[in-house]
Amino acid sequence: MARNGQAAAARLGFRCAACGATSVRWTGRCSGCGAWNQVEEQRAPRLVAASPVGGARRITEVPADRSRARPTGLAELDRVLAGGLVAGSVTLVGGEPGVGKSTLLLQALASLVARGGRALYVTAEEAAHQVQARAARLGCLRPELWLAAETSLDAVVGHVLAVRPDVVVVDSVQAVHSSQHQAPPGAVTQVREVAHRLAEVAREENVAVVLVGHVTKDGSLAGPRQLEHLVDTVLAFDGDRHHALRRLRAVKHRYGPTHELGLFEMGEDGLVTVDDPSGLFLADRLVGVPGSVVLPLLEGRRPLLVELQALVSPPVSSSARRSAEGIDGGRLALVLAVLEQRAGVQVAGRDVLGVAVGGVRASEPAADLPLALAVASAALDVALPPGLVACGELGLGGEVRIVADLGRRAAEARRLGFDRVLVPASAPADVGAGVVGVRTLTEALAAAGLPAANVPKGSRP
Ligand code: TYD
Ligand code: MG
Repeated sequence: MARNGQAAAARLGFRCAACGATSVRWTGRCSGCGAWNQVEEQRAPRLVAASPVGGARRITEVPADRSRARPTGLAELDRVLAGGLVAGSVTLVGGEPGVGKSTLLLQALASLVARGGRALYVTAEEAAHQVQARAARLGCLRPELWLAAETSLDAVVGHVLAVRPDVVVVDSVQAVHSSQHQAPPGAVTQVREVAHRLAEVAREENVAVVLVGHVTKDGSLAGPRQLEHLVDTVLAFDGDRHHALRRLRAVKHRYGPTHELGLFEMGEDGLVTVDDPSGLFLADRLVGVPGSVVLPLLEGRRPLLVELQALVSPPVSSSARRSAEGIDGGRLALVLAVLEQRAGVQVAGRDVLGVAVGGVRASEPAADLPLALAVASAALDVALPPGLVACGELGLGGEVRIVADLGRRAAEARRLGFDRVLVPASAPADVGAGVVGVRTLTEALAAAGLPAANVPKGSRP
């Protein structure tokens, strides 16, 4: 017993890295979440009395943080970062393979060094000549942009110390490995060790570290999720595979708000900032076609005008088909039921297609009212007025409910020449010109110029 006493005292048991469940003995498979090979031993830190360096202070006497963000010069990236990259901080950029993370960061570094400063791009996935060729094609060749093809963590740290960059990008965190661990690159222990070490380097060397992390929809790749607490900023980069639009959002940000959205288009020459997203989404719109309506969507705090389309047709098979793209299927079902029951628009037994155009996801409840108008317009085969936009949540009673930031949405609609904004009647008075408040879906259909439907008695709210 005495022989084992010391070791036993240092042991805390075992903990699953995936779900946090604890156990007294090691198991290959976590009994909490069922994940394999996630259970790790916990060891107590050696108890050393910390010398009170600096000591505690009155909160009023703590010096203000002088950390200043360095703009990358890519406007949409800087907007999401609330200014730029902060020296000594770690930023994780997560996204699905192929979404354009490497392209974004290569362009960001080239832009940053063009404004003065030095950057290091560590590629752990591609060969140096591949990155060089891409940089040449994107016009990103700059003498102060340094490049290293490296997968060993020690070597990566060595490059940072040798080059002394203002910013280092490590692409990707899953492809770098530490010799301290046996696990293969990409394993949880490896990814964490790499992030931990690079976070130390960031702080000690006052360099901004950017880690690239691949994520998959089912979250099966280790990385981003396990690293979120280790880094200062987490950016999510996503987009529809079949569309050029890419969205960049801050999921966590120690140096600013997380509601800003950056928009890019992936083209032949890399990523291009989208300056007028509403104009972009509406560029190909056909006015005067039944089933089309415009919705002022809110992405973060940014209003974005997108087109919703609906098509109502005789059923192609024995049962009516409902299909939603870029729209929540559950919300479409709700809208159809409310249209039928509360406003007397016949959709039962007919095929209904609902689409948010341009690879956009319009899953906000604010999309209910415009979706209902689009379906009603398609079902009745009557086009909506071209200058109309609508936004509001629908209740099961057929009532139109308030949604956030109506002022900003209405202003964006007016900017693009829309002169009639249907909003919930409970909207604040200062939403602005051209606003029409509607209490119910029936009122909204009338305000949109659709013919009155034959509403079953007692159903109309
Ligand atoms: P990439 O930046 O390699 O994605 P990630 O690092 O997230 O895996 O870019 C992936 C895709 O982008 C690739 O399939 C090709 C496309 N692409 C363009 O369309 N235009 C370009 O200029 C570049 C560089 C890439
Ligand atoms: Mg890449």
